[in-house]
Amino acid sequence: LDYRDMGGIVLPGMIDLHVHLRGLKLSYKEDEATSTRAAAASGITLVADMPNTMPPLRSKSAIDAKLAALRRMSLVDYAVYAGVPDEPEEARGLAELPIAGFKVYPEDLEERRGTLRRIARLHKLLILHAEHPVALKSIVEAEDTRAAMRGCWAELAGLMEVLDLGPARLHVTHASCPSTVLAAKKVGATVDATPHHLFYSLRGSDCGWRVNPPLRSKAERLSMLKLLAEGMVDALASDHAPHLLRERIDPLSCSPGFAWLDSWPLLAACLVASGTLSLQDYARLTSLNPARILGIDSVYGSLQPGMRANIVVIKLERWHRPARIYSKGENPIENIIEVCAALKAVIVGGTLVYLDGEFTGEKPETVNAIEYASTYLASSSPP
Ligand code: DOR
Ligand code: ZN
Ligand code: ZN
Repeated sequence: LDYRDMGGIVLPGMIDLHVHLRGLKLSYKEDEATSTRAAAASGITLVADMPNTMPPLRSKSAIDAKLAALRRMSLVDYAVYAGVPDEPEEARGLAELPIAGFKVYPEDLEERRGTLRRIARLHKLLILHAEHPVALKSIVEAEDTRAAMRGCWAELAGLMEVLDLGPARLHVTHASCPSTVLAAKKVGATVDATPHHLFYSLRGSDCGWRVNPPLRSKAERLSMLKLLAEGMVDALASDHAPHLLRERIDPLSCSPGFAWLDSWPLLAACLVASGTLSLQDYARLTSLNPARILGIDSVYGSLQPGMRANIVVIKLERWHRPARIYSKGENPIENIIEVCAALKAVIVGGTLVYLDGEFTGEKPETVNAIEYASTYLASSSPP
């Protein structure tokens, strides 16, 4: 079946589980307005933002400020993860907030046992006291990036204590190689993979190619694509990590990561155009499963009656470059923005925001997806 002959195809709005929208004191790299405009222009209608901001999202006051910025500026729906707080008392404060869960960084695990127990305890506390109990996952980086050049090294064994929460509460993000995917599935966690680990192999240690976790060998990348096609990867997530070009040149002060929000769902559509994924697989990886992982699939991630009206119409095409880029993030890798699909329309919360390559100028009412889902969870159960 060649979807390219079918004209417009309707899909549930894409959900990106792992983005760095920056903002606050890092707004020179990117902010909540530019990043979410880029997201909408590639069919993403919900983004989940990471807490490595300045200040970091580890306290109630920082998260309040972040949510206020998103409320004011976001063109799409949003969710935020909290970082692991230094003081247990802070966790109580976090429980009042509509957050998606905890992001656990390798640094959080450095003092292994004590820290892991603390994370599990905090997470349990959050579950017990949460006023918005829809999601609350611990989303972990399970690879030792410091051992970058020694190859992929899944650290899940060390995370077993976090599993004290139950593996369903654990999501492993940006798995860069097959052993991490398999380790995550073995313990019953969900796992995502990024476009860069699926589309690019390691080509030396040049700053322009640097990302955490690093790009891997061609053989590992092809195995990742195979696992994706076999249904072993639950979701695609971009790790949109925008930096300025001058931060991507000097090997000594090199900031890692690629800006993806303008393009990745339209690039991932190349896997449909080439027959690697079915359109159903694509919708599962870009929308349904991310909604399930966030615990908000009662109102997001599919096109059933009663869902929030986040809807995308795409048309599969041959390789081309999108006409415009909205993110402030500058990629040193030129061809990272080639894609295989064009957007016909994007609807956020029932408002048509994008039509045939142009923003309509309509401002949608965007919501914190965690709050929205917890409000409508009890009252509406879709057929
Ligand atoms: O490459 C990366 N960039 N990996 C991360 O984990 C962080 C991110 C960033 O924030 O720039
Ligand atoms: Zn990361
Ligand atoms: Zn990240």
